[in-house]
Amino acid sequence: MQQPRSVAPAAGRLGVLLPGMGAVATTLMAGVMLVRRGLAEPIGSVTQLGTIRLGKRTDARAPRIASFLPLASLDSLVFGGWDLFADDAYESAVHAKVLDREHLDPIRDELQAIAPMTAVFDPRYVKRLCGTHVKEGSTKADLMEQVRADIRSFAERNDCARLVAVWCGSTEIYEEASHVHESIESFERGLANNDPAISNSQIYGWACLLEGVPFANGSPNLIVDFPAAQQLAARRHVPIAGKDFKTGQTLMKTIVAPGLKARMLGVRGWFSTNILGNRDGEVLDDAESFKAKEVTKRGVLDYILQPKTYPTLYGDLYHKVRIEYYPPRGDAKEGWDNIDLIGWLGYPMQMKIDFLCRDSILAAPVVLDLILLLDFAARAGFHGIQEWLSFFFKCPMTAPELYPEHDLFIQLMKLKNTMRWAMGADPVTHLGHEYYD
Ligand SMILES: NC(=O)c1ccc[n+]([C@@H]2O[C@H](COP(=O)([O-])OP(=O)(O)OC[C@H]3O[C@@H](n4cnc5c(N)ncnc54)[C@H](O)[C@@H]3O)[C@@H](O)[C@H]2O)c1
Repeated sequence: MQQPRSVAPAAGRLGVLLPGMGAVATTLMAGVMLVRRGLAEPIGSVTQLGTIRLGKRTDARAPRIASFLPLASLDSLVFGGWDLFADDAYESAVHAKVLDREHLDPIRDELQAIAPMTAVFDPRYVKRLCGTHVKEGSTKADLMEQVRADIRSFAERNDCARLVAVWCGSTEIYEEASHVHESIESFERGLANNDPAISNSQIYGWACLLEGVPFANGSPNLIVDFPAAQQLAARRHVPIAGKDFKTGQTLMKTIVAPGLKARMLGVRGWFSTNILGNRDGEVLDDAESFKAKEVTKRGVLDYILQPKTYPTLYGDLYHKVRIEYYPPRGDAKEGWDNIDLIGWLGYPMQMKIDFLCRDSILAAPVVLDLILLLDFAARAGFHGIQEWLSFFFKCPMTAPELYPEHDLFIQLMKLKNTMRWAMGADPVTHLGHEYYD
């Protein structure tokens, strides 16, 4: 038996700050409100519905994760956020057209009470949007201080004992870390000098880290995955996680690809295309924002299939990913995959997956789990990159010398073993020899 870590109790209210109050954020808020009132089930949430086996299979001990970990209760969550559109959470949810009026009307007042704070927004980083509910400031350092002030006044107004932030804002143009991202000092100089390499989302991320707010990045943006942010997270003892919620097509890819590889079946080609018509789709219609998404979506197969280790099976793999903006579909995305397989003696086969999914319905429970687990991480004294939360991301953040683990089932084992380890329970190895000795 391990020693349990000491985990501070989840006392008081947990403030949930969401930069970007669009489809995903409002579907999350509405869902939590409905679940709290007993009007819906939190389907898709690992923390709310999942169980965790403890001890041997013969022990028959598998409590709910929510009762095994001292997680914040849904009743203790209080939501806030920022957006460049002034719509309150109800108007924004109606605009997003994810949830029906049947679900929105019972919680209309509660949603209407959540008005976005003004955004840090320069359209250079998101070409397709133009909003007026934005902050003014002479420098990026000034804007960042305004976000810090927002965070503090939100916590005070709502009597929050703790805070967590999850980036639910739009995908920005593709950007790689540059000299300004190298150290805390260079980033702070960049903020003061309005360095163009510092994007909108990085300003929020930096403000959260300075305020000691655990931060998860649900988009492909470069927000906390560069050395300066990681140094600041270490200095402030803040847990960080990212990036890009693993939801529709990539979720399926990380379920199917490990299975094919486990059976040593080859893959010659994998063509993935999506049609979607929500605001996210509109933003991704811009080539520079699509590039950011393409990078997080494409990395998955290389890491799972390991073409260098298995050149016969995956050395020639052609992987193509497309996203098409198609307004009639709204949030009801369709993700097609055509997989060209190779079997025994090189004989070809094909597999087609047509996932008629709903983007924000898949994303909302992921956001809820991240909120609760990041808050748990902070109370358990974890800080820096939370690799155990890779399960929730398309492009998991890792230490620089490590490759990311993309296989959903390895990620799940890592997630649950970290929970066991944190609570002083033995990890489950699945060795199983003890039943036969
Ligand atoms: N829905 C999914 O399944 C899914 C999966 C993976 C990642 N994501 C990512 O999650 C994010 C949100 O997706 P969505 O479907 O809710 O998109 P959305 O367009 O409905 O919402 C994004 C919101 O962010 C706001 N925004 C943009 N820049 C901002 C800024 N600087 N400050 C404050 N607000 C800002 C926009 O005005 C918009 O309301 C996107 O980056 C998307 O790529 C979504």
